[in-house]
Amino acid sequence: MPKLLQQQKSGYQIQAEAEDKGLVVEVPTDLPLVSIDASIISRVLDNLVGNAFKYIPPGGTITLTACKADQALRVSVQDNGEGIPAEQHQRIFEKYTQVKDETGQPLRMGTGLGLAFCQMAVQAHDGTIWVESQVGQGSTFIFTLPLPARKVPSQPQATGRRSTPRNNTPDRHLI
Ligand SMILES: Nc1ncnc2c1ncn2[C@@H]1O[C@H](COP(=O)(O)OP(=O)(O)OP(=O)(O)O)[C@@H](O)[C@H]1O
Ligand SMILES: [Mg+2]
Repeated sequence: MPKLLQQQKSGYQIQAEAEDKGLVVEVPTDLPLVSIDASIISRVLDNLVGNAFKYIPPGGTITLTACKADQALRVSVQDNGEGIPAEQHQRIFEKYTQVKDETGQPLRMGTGLGLAFCQMAVQAHDGTIWVESQVGQGSTFIFTLPLPARKVPSQPQATGRRSTPRNNTPDRHLI
């Protein structure tokens, strides 16, 4: 996971410099591993960081952090942009939903699909995603990814059939 977060930093470096925006990655060295499809989770990060870039002014900052919280890894993408009204906090995760200005126009270009994808992708990993935001103070998008269940000593099985752990999905790896 630390690598995925650092990749966001390098991927957005040119845009950050061109737009005078900062991208900070704060990740502890002892982060636990999670079993994920890295290409999907990196698209989640990309959507969240891309949104943050759209909504911060020049001079603004985006901060990516990750930490262990209970039995999950908690990843957050924080910006100090314009923020999101409370009544929109759940709706923006629905397909084609964008916050509109008083004339009914979306505040920025987009299709309103990015967060719907993020929600589907995180839920497919048995995690949750939400936003904490106040208008004028910025937004923090947070998602969780459950830590792998602790290994229990294997018991001989009467049927000879082996059970497959839930997140032992082909494209997932511990990272
Ligand atoms: N960091 C943010 N700050 C303020 N508003 C945000 C932020 N991220 C998302 N939003 C609001 O949530 C809406 C939905 O975001 P979403 O990523 O789904 O769509 P989009 O960015 O408009 O289009 P797309 O991602 O499909 O190109 C946005 O249109 C915007 O109104
Ligand atoms: Mg988007």
